[in-house]
Amino acid sequence: MRVLGIETSCDETGVAVYDTAAVPGTGQVAAGAGGLRAHAVYSQIALHAEYGGVVPELASRDHVRKLLPLIRQTLAEAGMTASDLDGVAYTAGPGLAGALLVGAGTARALAWALDVPAVAVHHMEGHLLAPLMEDDPPQAPFVALLVSGGHTQLVAVEAIGRYRLLGETLDDAAGEAFDKTAKLMGLPYPGGPQLAALAEQGTAGAYRFARPMTDRPGLDFSFSGLKTQVLLAWQQSDRSARTRADIARGFEDAVVDTLAIKCERALDAAGCDVLVVAGGVGANTRLRARLQAMCAQRGGRACFPRPSLCTDNGAMIAFAGALRLEAGQREDAQVKIAPRWDMAALPPLAAAPRAGAGGPE
Ligand SMILES: Nc1ncnc2c1ncn2[C@@H]1O[C@H](COP(=O)(O)OP(=O)(O)OP(=O)(O)O)[C@@H](O)[C@H]1O
Ligand SMILES: [Mg+2]
Repeated sequence: MRVLGIETSCDETGVAVYDTAAVPGTGQVAAGAGGLRAHAVYSQIALHAEYGGVVPELASRDHVRKLLPLIRQTLAEAGMTASDLDGVAYTAGPGLAGALLVGAGTARALAWALDVPAVAVHHMEGHLLAPLMEDDPPQAPFVALLVSGGHTQLVAVEAIGRYRLLGETLDDAAGEAFDKTAKLMGLPYPGGPQLAALAEQGTAGAYRFARPMTDRPGLDFSFSGLKTQVLLAWQQSDRSARTRADIARGFEDAVVDTLAIKCERALDAAGCDVLVVAGGVGANTRLRARLQAMCAQRGGRACFPRPSLCTDNGAMIAFAGALRLEAGQREDAQVKIAPRWDMAALPPLAAAPRAGAGGPE
């Protein structure tokens, strides 16, 4: 089955083709990157940079401009035409309503014209399943850490489609904390990856910030106080390049430590040793190393997507959609989006085939 994936939930237009038959020896969606035939991402960062954040209406309009050319480009790279597609998957939520509508409307229209099924994909399920596209994928049950610009969640994955929230951030997401901290130290938007690069030049221990909410039981997070601590340290410093790198390192170490402590607790609580990490902050080198070491120490492992599939992309949507289409999930032709959508409300894969089921309410 060749599935086109469309991602337009925020400020990235992502398109990909996932081919389940390209995975050797299987009629089903299976492990490995072999099935990813092509993927392309167009980032709107430059468009929003002068505003210091995403402007929803500009995001929607840019998706309108970029989506069809990107679909054509991706199909060409996959050596296919639209008539080769067997299904279309699109992000239906959570995300910005106008941006989601562009992807949903295009996907539904394309599926209708091609007479193939379309499936609404939950953006965070897409992130969560992205590591399963890599070689030697983990099998459920496992614990997932979703760390992105809008979410920081620990999820017990009992099976694909059966998700139980173990803990989440009470305020800023980890990626948001990276971006806001970078901004207050004068790094250009979006600063998260730049702050991480700067931290590489900093000295560990020169600045030590709190590991929020690790001094009490529980699996929730809070990152907004950390940002304020950094602001005070920065304001009271000599503001040299050296100091900026040291503070960046202190901040990154605090976030990485906090995430690692909570992940270990979540693995204990779930009684398992396999951790899946996804979302943009999952691209962070120090976080990857720290979580790998923590899991290896307990005889398990940490699984990540390759860094380019940590941030928003169409591949994760094509893959998650292919899983659901292969399981028989079918929805009616309505263009439905869900800007707010609880992942725990998703149907488990085995229970998906009922017509009209599975999409957002
Ligand atoms: N190397 C890195 N280190 C730390 N943070 C990073 C790194 N690379 C990307 N990020 C952060 O990841 C976030 C973007 O990730 P992603 O695209 O998954 O989030 P999003 O789609 O905006 O949010 P959500 O998926 O929750 O809706 C940004 O906040 C960015 O700063
Ligand atoms: Mg995302």
